[in-house]
Amino acid sequence: MKLRGKFITFEGGEGVGKTTNLTFLRDYLIQHHIPVVVSREPGGTQLAEKIRSLLLTKHKESITEQAELLLMFAARSQHIRHVIEPALAEGSWVLCDRFTDATYAYQGAGRNLGASTIQWLEHFVQQGLTPDLTILLDAPAETGLKRAKQRGELDRIEDETLSFFGRVRRGYLLQAELEPARIKIIKADQPLVDVQNDIIGLIKHFFVNEH
Ligand code: TMP
Repeated sequence: MKLRGKFITFEGGEGVGKTTNLTFLRDYLIQHHIPVVVSREPGGTQLAEKIRSLLLTKHKESITEQAELLLMFAARSQHIRHVIEPALAEGSWVLCDRFTDATYAYQGAGRNLGASTIQWLEHFVQQGLTPDLTILLDAPAETGLKRAKQRGELDRIEDETLSFFGRVRRGYLLQAELEPARIKIIKADQPLVDVQNDIIGLIKHFFVNEH
């Protein structure tokens, strides 16, 4: 039987460098001959990418907070069944750009929906699946938003207020406080080389002798 792969998620507010650092870790794992699958949420399958585009496009009709939450979990259910679980079972490591901690931060804290409904949906949809390690890239909301704006036009969620992103950041930090063994905070506003050294340090510490 193949050894089950590891499930690592990257989290953080807008513009904190998740994608750059996820790509860096992917390359590092490939160099170490570890099979790796890279994905993102919302998205990661054909249907889930359609849900992503529903969620991120600006519409005339506003999306209710509840619909937003349910669409996040609908996409997640597709992603888990069709991509994440099969890859882990095959022995690949899965690196995912955002997962359920984003729901606690954005819908729970940002949209003020609270944690209890999310806890229920998490249980219902994930049936015990949680990341082995979550790297939370943390920076002040202003810093990240500035970077997100430089990337181009803002999507429906990026276009939220600074106070929304302040709540998102606090939501993430609360998640890290609740689950310190899984969620590791890395300062995202230090030089990139230091961020990446911190990531490698975490990986070595977490998974030493696994492969
Ligand atoms: P990004 O991953 O490309 O930054 O875009 C995804 C957007 O979706 C981002 O604004 C965060 C948001 N999001 C949520 O609000 N809840 C979630 O559960 C997830 C996975 C993402």
